[in-house]
Order: sequence, then structure tokens, then C-alpha cells
Amino acid sequence: MKILVVGGGGREHAIIKKIKENPTVTEIFALPGNGGIAKDATCVNIGAKDIPAIVKFAEENKIDYAIVAPDDPLVLGCVDALEAIGVPCFGPRANAAIIEGSKVFSKNLMKKYGIPTAEYEVFSDAASALEYLKDAPIPTVIKADGLALGKGVIIAETREAAFDAVHSMMEDKVFGESGSNIVIEEFLTGPEVSVLSFTDGKTVVPMISSQDHKRAHDNDTGLNTGGMGTVAPNPYYTNDVAKECMEKIFVPTINAMASEGRTFKGCLYFGLMLTPKGPKVIEYNCRFGDPETQVVLPLLESDLLTVMRATTNGTLAECEVKFAKKNACCVIMASDGYPEHYEKGFPITIPEATLPSVYVAGAALKDGALVTSGGRVLGVTAVEDTLKGAIESAYKLVGTVDFDNAFYRHDIGKRALMAKENN
Ligand code: AMP
Ligand code: GLY
Repeated sequence: MKILVVGGGGREHAIIKKIKENPTVTEIFALPGNGGIAKDATCVNIGAKDIPAIVKFAEENKIDYAIVAPDDPLVLGCVDALEAIGVPCFGPRANAAIIEGSKVFSKNLMKKYGIPTAEYEVFSDAASALEYLKDAPIPTVIKADGLALGKGVIIAETREAAFDAVHSMMEDKVFGESGSNIVIEEFLTGPEVSVLSFTDGKTVVPMISSQDHKRAHDNDTGLNTGGMGTVAPNPYYTNDVAKECMEKIFVPTINAMASEGRTFKGCLYFGLMLTPKGPKVIEYNCRFGDPETQVVLPLLESDLLTVMRATTNGTLAECEVKFAKKNACCVIMASDGYPEHYEKGFPITIPEATLPSVYVAGAALKDGALVTSGGRVLGVTAVEDTLKGAIESAYKLVGTVDFDNAFYRHDIGKRALMAKENN
């Protein structure tokens, strides 16, 4: 089978490495891929949002199956466009990807179907939002409606900060049209859990749970990033919590989307907060998380391509999805200065023995050698029997990778480990 993967980050690298395990796969194309992915797939210089070029490539190269990994092409209708030329895809159509593409949509969906989430109000003009904020409880959370590269959420600790957020989103348009509508919601507290799930629109199969570390620096300080590391499973996500989430959140969401005529197929990501009043949805993503994928897929024992095709064909109920009873830890190595200003172009050395554990996110090939080209450069994942072992091994592997200006958090998994020891 000829497979096309849209995207070019660490998540896509993890998907590609797993897909390669299937013996029927003859060729994998990554659009655009990256310098590290080039070791495992044929990278083609077509941007993940260039849907006409993606479709043309799929047609010319007789692609058998496409995996659309990032949010933008999904929201823009990449799956719809590929299906229109007869290419089956992993991923939701645009009318279902809206669950991530519009926070107003997802909040209204949860309200209509009684799915637990933070209380909220929607605003389409700055004056009413500012008026509401005059006596709203503080802290409060302000979210741009549309996609904003993961930056569209502001936790306002003071009333001033809340006013500023509204001004910057709705008047200064820092997130462009994504901030034309905003959601202002209740500030929730509790441990966060990411649960990715496979779904064919009828059946939902949660994957092993995970925990992201979003802040740039140790002890959850510094700016929000795309994610600096992950562990799986997440010790806060006990069997009881899992059961409650399945009943109150996962199944109701899949059914709600189907009832709305927006059947969701692919990977639905539940960003959950385990509040004192029970698990609540913080966000939905219409895709695999990054860097959650880099710890979840290494623990998947079943064949990924088989499971993916079952979500497309509507046969997920008959498909085995099994995870190893082990632990994984992924440490992201970034360029110093990320998520703000950083330099690029430094050569990267990765020992041969470490390569299978590395998922490359931001690196390019220059004269055949790998050089840094992004903020998050690569992730290093270790799988071990215990969480402690996985963390130790991941950091040992990180020590073998070298590039100038490398920086990473030193405490990935620390909180999870403490939670485990306290239980
Ligand atoms: P998002 O960009 O939607 O992933 O949100 C970024 C982060 O903001 C989440 O991972 C949470 O840590 C935090 N967050 C979002 N909504 C809330 C909320 N209602 N209460 C507290 N924290 C929140
Ligand atoms: N790790 C969070 C995300 O993929 O959105």
C-alpha cells in the first residue's frame, strides 16, 4: 500500500514509524515531512495546508490511504477533498473537524448534550465582553473561537489582564479572524489528562491516557508552548475516572456529533481536567496530540494502520486495540529561546543506537546532515516497565543527543511520579 501522511512534526514522525511496522506498506510519502522524517519516508515539499497540491499529488501517485494529521488541513477540508477523488483517509471531514476549529461550536455542543465542561458565555463584540467582565469571577479564561496555533487561550489572573485579552483578541486581532468571536469561561482547577481516542463515528476506543507539560520551563513556569514533554499512562486517570469519562464524555460526544449530522471519524482528542466536581472537557482536538502521540503510539501493540482503516471503514467495534502495560516518557529538546526567538541551523548529532527513540519535529537536511530548523527540534521517547524507569531512560537518551543551544525541561514526569507515589 502507498500511504500519504500530511504534516511534518514529531507527531507525524511517530505515526510514520508505527505505520512502517505494517508489512503491506510499500511506500510512505510525507507532505512536507522534515529532515528527520526523511529517514523513514519520502518527503515531498508540499505544505500541509496546500490542499489542491495534496490532492494532485495523491492522484498522480495513486495513493491507497491518506493520514491527515494536523488541525489546519482537517479544518480546511483536506479529508473531504481527498475522498472526493476516491482516496480513503484517516481523519474527520471538515464538518466534524469543527469540534476543534470552533470553540463556540464545541461549547454549544457540550451544553446541548449535557457533556461536563466549564460554564461559559460567547461574545461577538468587545463592548459586551468588557461589560460582562466587570463583575465576572477572577481568574477567568478567555478563548479565541478559531485556531490560533495553540495560543488562543488566556488565563487572566486579574481583571486588567482579562480586559487586555479582549482588547488584543477582538480589537487588535492578534489571532486574526480566529478572535472575532470569543468564549469567556469559568476557571477550573485539577490535574489535566489527555485522552486520545480512535472512533469510526459509532464506536469510541480510548487510547492509553497521557500527560502533557505545556510550560517552557521547569516546575510549570515560563510561557505556554506546544508541549515540552509527555508521559503515559497518566497516573491521575484511574480506572474509575476512565469509566466515568467513557459514560459522561466520550460516548456522549461521539453520539452528539452523529446526531448533528457531523459523524466524527479519526482521532478525537479529549483534553480533560479532573476537577473536584468530576472530569470536565477543557478542549477537543480533531487529531492526535503533539507530543502525546510520541508516548501513546510507542505503547500501542496492535497494528496502527489496521486500526486506522477500521475507523475509516466503520468497523472499529471488531478491531482489537491493545496497549502495552508499560510506561513511556517523551522529553522534547527545543532551541534555546523557544517559544519566542531562537536561532536555527545548528548541526544535530544522534547516535545510531538512539535513533529509534527519536521523533524529529524541527530539523532540516543541509548537505545531507541534520540541522535544527524549528523551536521544538525533536522528542526522545523511552518505554520501560515503570514510570520512574521510563523517565530515567528518556533523560539518558537525551544526554546522547547533541546540538548547540539545545534546551529541555528537567522535570518531565516528576508530577506524575509524585502522584503515583502518593497513591
Ligand atoms: P488549550 O489551548 O485549549 O489547550 O488550553 C491551554 C491550557 O489552558 C489548557 O491546557 C489548560 O491548562 C488551560 N485552560 C484552558 N481552559 C481552562 C479553564 N477553563 N480553566 C483552567 N484552565 C484552563
Ligand atoms: N499537546 C496538545 C496538543 O496537541 O494540542
